[in-house]
Amino acid sequence: MMRPNDPQNIGAPRRRIDGPLKVSGTAPYAFEHPQENPAYLWPITAPIAKGEITAIDASAANALPGVLLVLTHENASRLWIGTDAALKVLQSPKIAHHGQFIGAVVAEDAQTARQAAALVRVTCDARPFDVEFRPDANDLEIPKKVGGEPGEHRRGDMQAAWSQAAHQVDQTYSHPAHFHNPLEPHALIALWRDGGGSDGNKKRLTIWDANQGVLTAQALLPPLLGLLPTQFEVISPYTGGGFGGKGLPHAHVVLTCLAAKALRGRAVKYAMTRHQMFATTGYRPASHNRMRLAADAEGQLLGIEHHITAPDSRLKSYIDASGGGARMMYAAPACDTVYHRQMLDISPGIFMRGPGEFTGAFALETAMDELAHDCGLDPIELRLRNEPKVNPDNDKPFSTRNLVACLNEGAAAFGWADRPAAPRTRREGEWLIGLGMAGATFPHVYMLPSRCRVRFLDGRYVVQLGASDIGTGAWTALTQIAADALAVPMDQIKLEIGQSGLALAWLAGGSAGTYSWGGAIIKAANKFRDKHGDTPKEGAHVVATSRPPKGYKDYSMHAYGAHFAEARVNTVTGEVRVPRMLGAYAAGRIVNPVTARSQMIGGMTMGISAALHEESVIDPRYGNVVNADFAGYHIAAHADIGKLDAIWIDEFDEWFGPTGAKGIGEIGIVGVPAAIGNAIFNATGIRLREMPFTPDKLL
Ligand code: MOS
Repeated sequence: MMRPNDPQNIGAPRRRIDGPLKVSGTAPYAFEHPQENPAYLWPITAPIAKGEITAIDASAANALPGVLLVLTHENASRLWIGTDAALKVLQSPKIAHHGQFIGAVVAEDAQTARQAAALVRVTCDARPFDVEFRPDANDLEIPKKVGGEPGEHRRGDMQAAWSQAAHQVDQTYSHPAHFHNPLEPHALIALWRDGGGSDGNKKRLTIWDANQGVLTAQALLPPLLGLLPTQFEVISPYTGGGFGGKGLPHAHVVLTCLAAKALRGRAVKYAMTRHQMFATTGYRPASHNRMRLAADAEGQLLGIEHHITAPDSRLKSYIDASGGGARMMYAAPACDTVYHRQMLDISPGIFMRGPGEFTGAFALETAMDELAHDCGLDPIELRLRNEPKVNPDNDKPFSTRNLVACLNEGAAAFGWADRPAAPRTRREGEWLIGLGMAGATFPHVYMLPSRCRVRFLDGRYVVQLGASDIGTGAWTALTQIAADALAVPMDQIKLEIGQSGLALAWLAGGSAGTYSWGGAIIKAANKFRDKHGDTPKEGAHVVATSRPPKGYKDYSMHAYGAHFAEARVNTVTGEVRVPRMLGAYAAGRIVNPVTARSQMIGGMTMGISAALHEESVIDPRYGNVVNADFAGYHIAAHADIGKLDAIWIDEFDEWFGPTGAKGIGEIGIVGVPAAIGNAIFNATGIRLREMPFTPDKLL
């Protein structure tokens, strides 16, 4: 007899229920939803970084057979309500960054659209512009807020801490802009119907879109396009990765909707090229992090100072909140975090896997390694000495904090005891070998409640919510949660996600999907059983909304982890290899060990990629990203990745909700470059403070 909320499926390594569809190529991604007689869009993009369009000659494009529409600011319909300036496409002749959309061609086929777009002659009045990030520029400004954080925050007396310190670290850590590049590019189909719609669908606009949740499209697009929420639908059952880049609709979505509006009745399809994705779909902005650590003779921290400088877009502001880790990760009586931004004529950034935490941990966890070396302490011992009892920034107790267990169990599993304390002591032929580690953390994220509807239909429980599976395993994990909550086998659950009109839910973002959606599912299931019992009538249904447990704001809520890396550095070529890595996590209850492991080692893979390879370069003469493709912007391939392992601490955090789960989607990347850089130092004695760790920096 199964009892409700008895873990039969939660915690079990269930196979992905969408696996067969995916491996057989039959799971429909955004671009693949069948359409009758679709048309294809190709964008026209700004050839300059700043200025104004003075003339557009579309006559040659319009004369090309197969061209249906040349859309520019001269003939696009007006947009209505919205504060996101990047979404206000084709509303004026102004150009705010290189590659910005200034028009589009729609044609019978994609090749004709592309050819026609090249025939559109655009004349511009170019203005002076600035795209060069200079952290030492004298026109930097301190923003009031960065995400939910203050632009400037001071605790205790950092100056006094610095002057009393027996050990000091004062270094700068930096990285270039990183681009998400999920396997599935940004893509959508937009269909704008006249009147009632000949296919019987009463919606005015339908988009089949690659996104991390239908929530943001639902919230932003109808007011922008002058539609009632009920006149709009978004369908996104499968998405091939997002990493944050698909968390908000970008300009291409509005561009395609405007084209569909002009062409009423015909579906317009647009799949972005990699090249185009380096201009209008966001990226992790570069940053420059000056970190000062002050410690006493025993390695006890007296103060931490983290000054963050980042470029920002004049079109739409985005800065990573990178200072959170410095304030809560380790006990220190004093801590200052200050942000500075430099306004530039560049495209806007957006959150990218572990936004802020990733950058902050590179600086903090490398600086901690420098401090450990200076103090003559093992890097793990230094962290143990600085483990706080409560959040040092606000004195709140931790809901759960098992960083120490991650450090100890990770060290044992990785073989940390074999690490020689002195750098440059292990060599095999041309290769120097070293081990390094770093701590990791990721906060609880709560922006909006999730809702869930449960219905009993055809002898099965239909569980509906606007959740999203971007390759994470949500289809499977949520089915496991629903099955346990309703005390039925998984095959009696019919999960419906990835569509508007189900029940408004949070995004696959902020690593908050599972606990937010799972909480809603459990609440709805409990309500359903209370109301309808275990033998419900056909059609019985309930809706429930989940919020974090009352009182959660009294706790400091984070997931924790520790990353361990082995680095091999070739003394002849400077090449770095990472033959093995381990992540040890305390991330609440793990709903599905198979899909969770995939999230964790996926994060580690991205961290290795950023540490060793990823680097984008803006051409200051034109304002474009020069290496905007996979030839110039290398993302770790299979050959770059060695043996990755993930282990976790048994944990249940009730403050995250009834699933007991914390976030696992992003913590896998946090601190990985620091662990690798620290391993490189252990191998070579060379300290790298600038990503990526390319051979030129080691020779
Ligand atoms: Mo993730 S960067 O919160 O989508």
